[in-house]
Amino acid sequence: MKRLNNALEACTSPENQSLLEAASRAALTAGFIIRELYEKPHTIQMKGEINLVTEADLAAETAIIASLNEDMPGIEVMAEESYTGKLDKDEGTIWIIDPLDGTTNFAHGIPIFAVSIALLRDGQPIVGVIYCPMQNELFCACSGGGSWMNTTSIHVTETEFLVQALVATGFPYNIHDRLETVISQVENILPKVRDIRRCGAAAVDLAYVACGRLDGFWEMDLKPWDTAAGWLLVKEAGGKITDFNGRTFSPFKPEIVASNTVLHDLLLKLI
Ligand code: IPD
Ligand code: CA
Ligand code: CA
Repeated sequence: MKRLNNALEACTSPENQSLLEAASRAALTAGFIIRELYEKPHTIQMKGEINLVTEADLAAETAIIASLNEDMPGIEVMAEESYTGKLDKDEGTIWIIDPLDGTTNFAHGIPIFAVSIALLRDGQPIVGVIYCPMQNELFCACSGGGSWMNTTSIHVTETEFLVQALVATGFPYNIHDRLETVISQVENILPKVRDIRRCGAAAVDLAYVACGRLDGFWEMDLKPWDTAAGWLLVKEAGGKITDFNGRTFSPFKPEIVASNTVLHDLLLKLI
């Protein structure tokens, strides 16, 4: 994995290096499986009225867990398609996995989706990897070692004014209950910024904030696997992440505002 060399060198300990290598290998393996399945007909099951799960979500998750257990045995796992415990884990060491973030895009043939894997220790992110298989972009970060896209160090933008900002959001699966709030946020923000994107994959949105393609991102009703890896990527790239009230973020909280830091308070005022 030559493309990982720079990120590995920047890791602050051999243990973190091993964790980053393990997470990256698992993400690349899952990405390969997802890419192979992308062009083929899909088997779609419904988890809710508009919430899909495909054969790729399940195959990717199985492969990730097997790969992580092989490289770093004995670490607890919270993975979207198989986890049934509490969505709160502030103690101990745990892998948090979204095997395919952006399932709706995948199922509709839109090539914007990612594998997202984070390792948290006592609620703090140690390693984060987001792999976009169709673009072959591996985003990764180790606590204290900066953020990387393939071999390149990445940083958030320096955009100072909302009118120059490209921001993104996402819509929750319980949109019918949240419509009023979602619309009012868009109503407040859209006239103030350059434009808004709805990419369809929260992990991709966060990786794009980290590498400066987006200046900010907000969403409500997310799950830990949507945000855990992206949280570290944005932090290590110089960005800021909070909840809607500007309080400390945790992936176990459902709401997120991520920004290039400079625009954070301006965005918070509009959300
Ligand atoms: C979803 C995506 C989407 C976001 C949803 C998430 P999934 O994850 O990240 O962009 O708006 O809230 O649940 O279901 O594709 O893994
Ligand atoms: Ca997700
Ligand atoms: Ca998913």
